[in-house]
Amino acid sequence: MKIFLDTAIVEEIREAASWGILDGVTTNPSLAAQSGRSFKENILEICEIVDGPVSAETVGLTAAEIVSEARLVCSWHRHVVAKIPCISEGLKATRALKDDPNVRVNMTLVFSANQGLLAAKAGANFVSPFIGRLDDAGHDGMELIRDLVAIYDRYGFDAEIITASVRHPRHVVGAALAGSHIATIPFKVLQKMARHPLTDVGLARFLKDWEKVPDHDTILKG
Ligand code: G3P
Repeated sequence: MKIFLDTAIVEEIREAASWGILDGVTTNPSLAAQSGRSFKENILEICEIVDGPVSAETVGLTAAEIVSEARLVCSWHRHVVAKIPCISEGLKATRALKDDPNVRVNMTLVFSANQGLLAAKAGANFVSPFIGRLDDAGHDGMELIRDLVAIYDRYGFDAEIITASVRHPRHVVGAALAGSHIATIPFKVLQKMARHPLTDVGLARFLKDWEKVPDHDTILKG
């Protein structure tokens, strides 16, 4: 499963990239606002850090506006993917952009298997089901991932599922077990994934015992 970072903060992206596990980045208007920077400047800096898809969201509400904004953001850098909301005008725009070799679409704000089915049929390259927000509303977000994996497999859709609105490490394990192609993860959740209290306890014990090795203070110094 590919790992994307769900953030517009370049410091977080730089750190995750340095771990060697980062395959892409997703942003949205709320995350762009949190960065406090010019949208284009920020997206371009992210594109230089990560060698993979970087989602930049359109805000138009008609198909014509969405198509024009999608073409614009994708012209900024070859890594940019246009993130388009799953509304009927967004589906129309996605279909219109399907044969444009310079535009890839990530259909976002997907909350049902029917929306995911329509997004794939319209030709989206990526589809983003928001599982945390479904959980918040009393549904089982992970069930949507399982349904979409089954539907796409069964009919051979090429769209890659990006499990989004990830709130905790269990969501990532669930997405991986369900067969999601990608999980887009907030930096705080990524940090939690890398840690385990028993690793910390084990390391502290090893370091303490290491001091009892006679040549401990010189042998690994080169
Ligand atoms: O990028 C879209 C999505 O991941 C948002 O997550 O936590 O705002 O529901 P959240």
